[in-house]
Parts: sequence; C-alpha cells; structure tokens
Amino acid sequence: MNRNLSRLRTLFYFLLPLSIFLASCKSAKPFTDYKSQKSVIADKAVVSAAHPLATKVGLNIIKQGGNAVDAAVAVQLALAVVYPRAGNLGGGGFLVYRSGDGSEVNTLDFREKAPGAASRDMYLDNNKNVIESKSQKGHYASGVPGTVDGCYKMFQKYSKLKDWKKLVQPAIDLAKNGFAITESEANRLNVNRLEFIKSSTMPSALILKDSAMKWKTGDILRQPELAKTLERIRDNGREGFYAGKTADLIVAEMKRGNGLITKGDLANYAATWRKPLIGKYRGYDIITMPPPSSGGIALLQLLGTVEDYPLSNYGFHSPEAIHLFIEAERRAYADRAEHLGDADFYPVPVNGLTAKSYIVNRFKDFMPNRASKSDDIKAGEPHKESEQTTHLSIVDADGNAASVTTTLNDNYGCRTIVGGAGFLLNNEMDDFSVKPGVPNMYGAIGGEANAILANKRPLSSMTPTIVTKDGKLFMVVGTPGGTTIITSVFQVITNVIDFNMSATEATHAKRFHSQWKPDVVMVEKDAFSDLTVKKLKGMGHNITARPYIGLVETILVRPDGKLEGAADNRSDDSAEGF
Ligand code: DON
Repeated sequence: MNRNLSRLRTLFYFLLPLSIFLASCKSAKPFTDYKSQKSVIADKAVVSAAHPLATKVGLNIIKQGGNAVDAAVAVQLALAVVYPRAGNLGGGGFLVYRSGDGSEVNTLDFREKAPGAASRDMYLDNNKNVIESKSQKGHYASGVPGTVDGCYKMFQKYSKLKDWKKLVQPAIDLAKNGFAITESEANRLNVNRLEFIKSSTMPSALILKDSAMKWKTGDILRQPELAKTLERIRDNGREGFYAGKTADLIVAEMKRGNGLITKGDLANYAATWRKPLIGKYRGYDIITMPPPSSGGIALLQLLGTVEDYPLSNYGFHSPEAIHLFIEAERRAYADRAEHLGDADFYPVPVNGLTAKSYIVNRFKDFMPNRASKSDDIKAGEPHKESEQTTHLSIVDADGNAASVTTTLNDNYGCRTIVGGAGFLLNNEMDDFSVKPGVPNMYGAIGGEANAILANKRPLSSMTPTIVTKDGKLFMVVGTPGGTTIITSVFQVITNVIDFNMSATEATHAKRFHSQWKPDVVMVEKDAFSDLTVKKLKGMGHNITARPYIGLVETILVRPDGKLEGAADNRSDDSAEGF
C-alpha cells in the first residue's frame, strides 16, 4: 500500500511534471522557418496576406476542408499575432464575400463603434481647438473593437468546417510558441517602443524591458498573454472577448488610462451584415463595401468616370491616363468629405453618388490638358434618397471568395496594449471628422456626415472588393493605406482590365494617389518618367514623392481557369496556393 502510494507520489511529483515539461518543450518550438512568396499559380485555392505564417495558416485550413471564410477567420486571428502593427483583435474591418456559384454575395461590417460616452467635441479644448494627438494616441482614441464579433459572425454564417476551435488554435500556437520576427516588424517595434510605454499602463511582450535592447530580425516573439486571450476566444467564441476576463481586462485598462470603453459598450457591440454595393465597369461587375466605408462608393465613382475614356489607348502611366485619374479622384474625394459617413446615422446618398448620370455630369468641367484647383472643386449635389490596416484575399477549392480588410487604423493603433491581455487597441476615432475641415492623419477632411456621435462608426476608406465577369469570379483585391486604399484598388483593377497586366504585375506596379485635399499628387519613387512628371507639372499638378503606397493582395482567375495569387512586394506579404 505504502509502496503504491510512494509510486503514485513519484508519478505525481516527478513524471507528471516531466511529461508536461517535455510536452511544453515540444510545443514551444518557435516558428522560424518561413519566407514570403510574391506570386503563385494554383489549380484550386490561393491565400494572399500580409505575413507568410498567416498565409500558411489559411492554406492549411483550406487543405483540411475549410472554405474561404474559415481560412479568412484563421488568417485574421493569426495576423493578430504575427503582424501586430495591423493584424488585430482590438480593431475592426470589413468582409466582402461571394460564394463559388455566385448565389450568395454579402458583406459584413465589423467596423469599430464610438463608445457610448463619445461626443462630437470630445477631441476639442475649451476654445474648440483640436487637442493634438488625442484622437490618435492612447486609450481615449480607441473605438469599441469589432474584429472578434466579425470573425465569429462570419464563421457562424458561412463556415464549412464548423469547428471554431480549429480556426483559433493556429493563432494560439503562434502566440505561445513564438515566431521569428521580420526586419520590418523589428524596425517598427523599435520605433514605437516609447509610444507603447507612453500609451500603455502595464508591461507587454511587445515592449522590451531594457531600453538599451533592440528588436532584431529573427528574434523570437512569444506572447503568452495574447495566447491566453485567444484561448478564451477559442473556448467561448465572441463572449471570450466581449465578456468575462477579457472584457474585465479591457475595462480595467480603460480605467487606468482614462478611456471610455465600458462593459456595456463591449456587450452591445454587434457586427452587421450589409447589402454589397455592386456596380459595372466595362462589362465587369464590381462587388464592394457600402458605408460606413467610403471605399465602395468612391471606387464606383472613379471607375464610372474613367470608363468613358480610352484608357488602354492612353497607356499605363501615360500623362493622359494619370491626369484623368487625378481629376476623377479630386471629385470623388470632395464628395467623400461632404456626403459620406455611417449611413446608420446620416442619410448618405449612395444611389445618387454612384448613378452614372451623376458621375458623367460631375465630370463635365474636366479639362483634358489642364489641372483643376481643388479649391475650385466642391462636392457635387447627388440626388438624395429618402432614405496600420491589412488585407487578405482568399479563394478556396469551390471558388468561394473572401476579401477582408481589417485595421487598427495607424500602425499599432493607439499604441495602448491591454494590460494582461496582450493585444493592441485601435485609434479608429481619428477616422471621424473631429472638427469640420480639420484633416485627420490621412489628410482627409469631413463635416456633419462624419461627425462623432455615440455608437456611430467612423468613416472608412477600406475597399475589400470582388470582381466578376459574366457571372464568374474574376478577381479578389484589397489593401491597407488609409485614404490611398481607394486609389490603389482602383489602379490595380484598371491595371488588369485596361492595361492587360497579370495579377502580379498589377500588384507590384508603382502607384500614385491624389484625394482633392491636400491638392497634391503623391507618387511612389520612380513611378513616372521625368518627361511624364514634366508634362503633369506643366498641366498644373503638384507632384510630391512618397516612399510607398498600399500593400495589395490580389487573386485573379486566369483564362485557363487557374488562379494567380499576388502578394505585394513592398513588405512581408505572401501568396501561396495549391
Ligand atoms: O478605415 C480606414 O480607412 C483607415 N482606418 C485605414 C487605415 C490604414 O489603412 C492604415 N494602413 N496603412
């Protein structure tokens, strides 16, 4: 008896801990063996996302029988771990979905909401001046996150695997075991260290304890607190984030940092299914995001404007084509500033703004050889009805397509890491017009339509888009980049349709951006020839350089039926398929 007991004791005190230790050693092997792939041709399925480890997670889910939405959920959660600057639990986003046979097209709005205690002048001082960075840094800048509810809702409606835990587990493994960080993540984490310390109240895996230390390429990032948060989400679904321990940690963080998000805000958050915006371009159907994104409306306006001009005759990046784009953009962004906001709170004239007759009429003052001045261009008068971001593009083996853009807004959002929960909060409140006419961090201005109100969603530019031709899937596309999102998606679509590029060429091609105000045209380095720049300047355009614009993920169905996946070559993005 005694001997048995002592055997049991040995088992309990020695063997059990040893086996746990050995098991944990085995599972603690960090993910180090990966590299990004910029282009792929595949027979069945493609995943293109901002980080190779997240791309692999998505592909594995499809290989296990999951569909595009299963993969999108798993990729999004993995990005929250391996791409902390934009992948997120504490942000929000949009899904545009199309089933393989086209019988189902839908969008999910999981954009953050203003907290219940938010109010119009919350970022102004007593003299009604904007308080610098209050809508951008720290607890007060954060909207109520939508990502987890969004992931759970899309899973409930469209999952084929019907196994939530399977979708969350890869993210947990990445957070727990750790992974080797890329050069760009190391650099950004170093640059933001002081911001994290200023805007957070507790230590975190993202903040090196010793200020003399620096993150280096290949360092292993383990995020045990984030792993625990993900485990709660794995075990309790949406409630694992919006209730219980995670909600407690968020609200405690808000209390320590004078933020506004309450238990009630979290409990009440609900992602919303919305009817997609569908328009035509040269015989293709463009399926895209309605408000609270401005992206879909502006994209349809831009395409609707340029389709009356012989773009392919003009040529890619010819002065004529560039000039046409800039003038179309000047008008679309003027409309955005005046008319666009959360349509649940403001009567956005969606049909009026996208009506072909309105678009054509609005472009009547276009001068083929002369730049107009943004100060002379006002918002149009459409018929009023009475009524640091990341993108992933996925096509699965049944041709279902998911185009998802999500964001914390700025890189690492408001830099506040929820103490004990290991994830960053967004600074999406800055996407509101904090004061009429005062530009946000993307230089965008707005007014009444996008003024702050409790529970309202800030206006977005995110433009996840799916293009079809003759009822068949043609293209899946989207990108981060603030207000440049719309013009990047616009250019990639025209690169393919008008300039006959492959997905890879269209995605990697240099880009430019203009948005009415400020009255400048931002151009990626070496995008235009000296002669083209000279001609554009001669027409009166203000040209400025910008390091890079957007991180686009594109999937194209080729004429032979194969899929071409492309990941942007401007950062760590990776496309894989099989
Ligand atoms: O919703 C929007 O339009 C912005 N919050 C997106 C921010 C973004 O793309 C930042 N990425 N570079």
